[in-house]
Amino acid sequence: MNNIRINRAAFTGSAIFHIHSFDHHVAEDLHIPADSTLKEKYEALIPQLESLINGEPDLIANMANMAAALKEAFGFFWVGFYRVEGEQLVLGPFQGPVACTRISYGKGVCGTAWKEKRTLLVPDVDQFPGHIACSSLSRSEIVIPLISEGEVSALLDIDSDQLDTFSAVDAFYLEKITSLLKF
Ligand code: SME
Repeated sequence: MNNIRINRAAFTGSAIFHIHSFDHHVAEDLHIPADSTLKEKYEALIPQLESLINGEPDLIANMANMAAALKEAFGFFWVGFYRVEGEQLVLGPFQGPVACTRISYGKGVCGTAWKEKRTLLVPDVDQFPGHIACSSLSRSEIVIPLISEGEVSALLDIDSDQLDTFSAVDAFYLEKITSLLKF
């Protein structure tokens, strides 16, 4: 017990709320022009993501900020990553409601994108055979595989609670954004 010492003063004054600036990478708010096209929003987001990720080698930290930035910029229902672990996809950093933890190769939209090594746009999830409904509110979806040395190492999955949300513009920019992640 002797080595556990609580400094009471630390809990009384306002000093407890003062965070020392130990870290050099200070996150700022995102700036996305409100009255702009989808393309302009992505163009505004990309350099901000680059500066968030630049100099940070930790993949999970970068996935976490990427998911948060995409959710904040576009208000998607669910944004997150699945990482390939052996024969399964395992849930990674995400923003949104709790989701399925593991998905098998070839199963659902994610497992199919992994198997086919290509971006999948699903305008109506009810029309996709084998779609895995982590949430009954999800109506459309886009999945982008992250390919490293010819193999899928992770996926970015975005769900919308509206039908037909995603287009070739989203596919183009989300592929560009995920290519910022280094494995
Ligand atoms: N709908 C996905 C499962 C993942 S959740 O949407 C987060 C699928 O069919 O693979």
